Amino acid sequence: MSVLFEPCSIKNLEIRNRFVRSATYDGFADNNGHISDRQIKLYSDLAEGGVGLIISGIAYVHHSGQVSPFQNSIAGEEFVPGFRKLTSAVHERGAKIAVQLFHGGREAKYLKTKNTLPLAPSIIENDLYYKGEYRALTDSEIWEIIHAFGDGAKRAKEAGFDAVQLHGAHAYLLSQFLSPYTNQRQDQWGGSLENRLRLHFEIYRDIREKVGNDYPVLIKIGVEDGFLGGLEFNEGKQAAKLLADFGFDSLEISQGLRGIRYVGTEYKTKINSRDKEAYYRNWCREIKSQTDIPTMMVGGLRTFSLMKEIIENKEANFVSLCRPLICEPNLINDWKTNEHKKAKCISCNKCVESIFKGKPIDCIQATKKKSKRRIGPKNKEGSL
Ligand SMILES: Cc1cc2nc3c(=O)[nH]c(=O)nc-3n(C[C@H](O)[C@H](O)[C@H](O)COP(=O)(O)O)c2cc1C
Repeated sequence: MSVLFEPCSIKNLEIRNRFVRSATYDGFADNNGHISDRQIKLYSDLAEGGVGLIISGIAYVHHSGQVSPFQNSIAGEEFVPGFRKLTSAVHERGAKIAVQLFHGGREAKYLKTKNTLPLAPSIIENDLYYKGEYRALTDSEIWEIIHAFGDGAKRAKEAGFDAVQLHGAHAYLLSQFLSPYTNQRQDQWGGSLENRLRLHFEIYRDIREKVGNDYPVLIKIGVEDGFLGGLEFNEGKQAAKLLADFGFDSLEISQGLRGIRYVGTEYKTKINSRDKEAYYRNWCREIKSQTDIPTMMVGGLRTFSLMKEIIENKEANFVSLCRPLICEPNLINDWKTNEHKKAKCISCNKCVESIFKGKPIDCIQATKKKSKRRIGPKNKEGSL
């Protein structure tokens, strides 16, 4: 049996194998943020398909953090029963599940309250990477958001989630605080690396008070921005170490703010050869070597033998996949019987584009019918 199918624990949570479904927004929540039947089915299929730990899509903890109308919310007690159905369905199928706690910061363009602006650490003049309107958070608003994260975690535990993961990557609130590009505050929340991480630390502290010492608290952390002039890896690496030392139970290593075009994002495209896979491998390996807590590698993982090598070399404890599992929820089970199976996902990013259009995720590879065999010559030379 491959090492990829050996169990591994995060704190006292045992996970049946090394495969994580990386957090994936699906756009299937109802328009009040509740879990839908479609989502129960999607998550059940993933659990049935062999994933060890599923990380949910972004669930906003405070109304000011919502980025999309069909996004899940964990900002009130009324969301607990729906989540309880979801966690039971996943547990019945042998997988574990964490909820991803989220605030969109300045990217929270979908605000239900009229005449309110999204909230950010600071206002950046002549920003080349973000054009939306927003305003800077006050100190008391920062504390309100911190408590909302703690309350979200408490509800997650009540609803049967095995863990929570903070979304600290990909251009959203926590990334915006960590990056010196978007955080230009002069107070205790800005300036030094410790100050730019204060929000992360205070959220952790508030969560711990509300869920106790044994509950796993994970973070997906963006350790470098997708453009020059943003957060650099040297600081991102130190940030990861400080978070681990502070008490977080697992790190998933990704990128921070987004640059322009897909190459500057966390969902890079054209992953069509082994050397293009695992595009955050070096970051993850380096961070793993400086901490004892379990680490997850994400970003372009597609080939079984490569993932096996990563775990065997102790470059990560878990491998985390998003797009391949949108395409094939049963992929992990398929690999159990055939390690050479090629993932169908070609990283075309039609799944992402569907979301950009305000629609739920969709995968054209999954639904593609086998093309009919051509009869007759394809081109002038007559070759097929
Ligand atoms: C459709 C889609 C939705 C995503 N939603 C989330 C999300 O809710 N939270 C998150 O942290 N990352 C999200 N991501 C990023 C993925 O978790 C992952 O980091 C990235 O896609 C790279 O992994 P992959 O190459 O296996 O797709 C999303 C990516 C895609 C393509």
